[in-house]
Amino acid sequence: MIRSTNEASDALIFFGATGDLAYKQIFPALYRLVRDEGLATPIIGVAKRGWNLDQLKDRAADSVKEHGGDINCDAFKQLLSQLRYVDGDYNDPKVFAELRKQMGHAKRPLHYLAIPPVLFSVVASQLAKSGCSKNARLVVEKPFGHDRKSAGELSRILDQYFSESDIFRIDHYLGKEPVQNILYTRFANSMFEPFWNRNFVRSIQITMAENFGVQDRGKFYDATGAIRDVMQNHMLQILASLTMDPPTGQEYEAMRDRKASLLKAVRALDPGHLIRGQYEGYHEVPGVRAGSTVETYAAAKLEIDNWRWAGVPIFIRTGKKLPVSIAEAIVEFKRPPRETFGEIVTSGSGHMRFRIQPDVTIALGTRVKIPGDLMIGDDVELILSRQPGQDMPPYQRLLGDAMHGVSELFTREDIVDAEWRIVNNVLGDTTPVCKYAPGTWGPKGAEQLVGSDGPWRNPAPAGGA
Ligand code: BG6
Repeated sequence: MIRSTNEASDALIFFGATGDLAYKQIFPALYRLVRDEGLATPIIGVAKRGWNLDQLKDRAADSVKEHGGDINCDAFKQLLSQLRYVDGDYNDPKVFAELRKQMGHAKRPLHYLAIPPVLFSVVASQLAKSGCSKNARLVVEKPFGHDRKSAGELSRILDQYFSESDIFRIDHYLGKEPVQNILYTRFANSMFEPFWNRNFVRSIQITMAENFGVQDRGKFYDATGAIRDVMQNHMLQILASLTMDPPTGQEYEAMRDRKASLLKAVRALDPGHLIRGQYEGYHEVPGVRAGSTVETYAAAKLEIDNWRWAGVPIFIRTGKKLPVSIAEAIVEFKRPPRETFGEIVTSGSGHMRFRIQPDVTIALGTRVKIPGDLMIGDDVELILSRQPGQDMPPYQRLLGDAMHGVSELFTREDIVDAEWRIVNNVLGDTTPVCKYAPGTWGPKGAEQLVGSDGPWRNPAPAGGA
């Protein structure tokens, strides 16, 4: 795979090497990068766990085995041979002196901070003091900051040590094929553009549903909640892909510029346009505070203040312990200006549906006549494309891109700021949190939120709309 002609990074250092993200995503991605793309640089894990290299290698083996790789193959052995480990406290300069040593002659290292954001600034400054940040790239995980203010402060800290073009802020939804496919379908075809606006679109709905709970992430989740965890980032990125204007010209930043303009045009969320929910049983999750009012469900009504979308209601919702694990966006079209056939048809007429996961589908919904003597019809879908799922996992795509300095699939400082601006007014307890039963579609208030612009389109497993 050819990614770019930029100078490739010649060492990959990842902080948080013994953590959950490394286990679930980073080792499998590194394994695939070695196997499929010949990644041959030193890979240095850093963590404070009192481990040695052999323990890290065992962890890598368990991770790759569990996530579908073959640990007996040459590629896995190759990955192990590239692996190094530095253990210690991120406040300790000796840790970074050791890291500098392990980096050897690396001239364009990439540092990946797979650690809680509160540690970003200490690690960034230690990297600088030890000389490890010289000519380096920096990848940071989401959530970037805790709110708009802290994200701005974090950016200012990182800017002291790294140039913006060397900072790669991860939102792994951008690495997903089906999210890229939304943009591709819109801008590689001219037929959709004429009706992709307020004149034809009645509403937009985006649902990111998960049928599992907070699992073993109680402590993290209880400090985060659904709005910060996925609404501020993954869901707004899907929204931007669906609604942004086409990029102009060939400038490298054209795509991100358009995305930034769109997000800047989204009105800051009004507490009256938000419903928060918490599934029954959430308080029993280890790590969750007694009496916590953190939301595991959020539904919001958004508005975009530009000519293309003025007046079009946009509903986004996400939740844990919902009936299914499906992410999907539906752009619903208006009814024809008059009912030629006298039918009583509720809501919209036709839609375009993008299923992002687990299966990947793009479908066009229309009404067609039911055979017979009456002029009445039915809603059917023309499936434009259906695939079982994505092939290149997002972390492989994103880490590979960052190693080559390709930043298009990462968020930018102004984009992150625009995302925080949208949700900033509704963070925390600005609105009440309502209980919902696991396996349901969330609190009742969500139905009132959509009102006559609804109903919600609940995604059904493959095949259904
Ligand atoms: C992560 C969130 O960013 O995205 C998780 O922290 C969420 O809470 C996950 O489950 C969803 O990602 P995916 O790729 O499984 O849809």
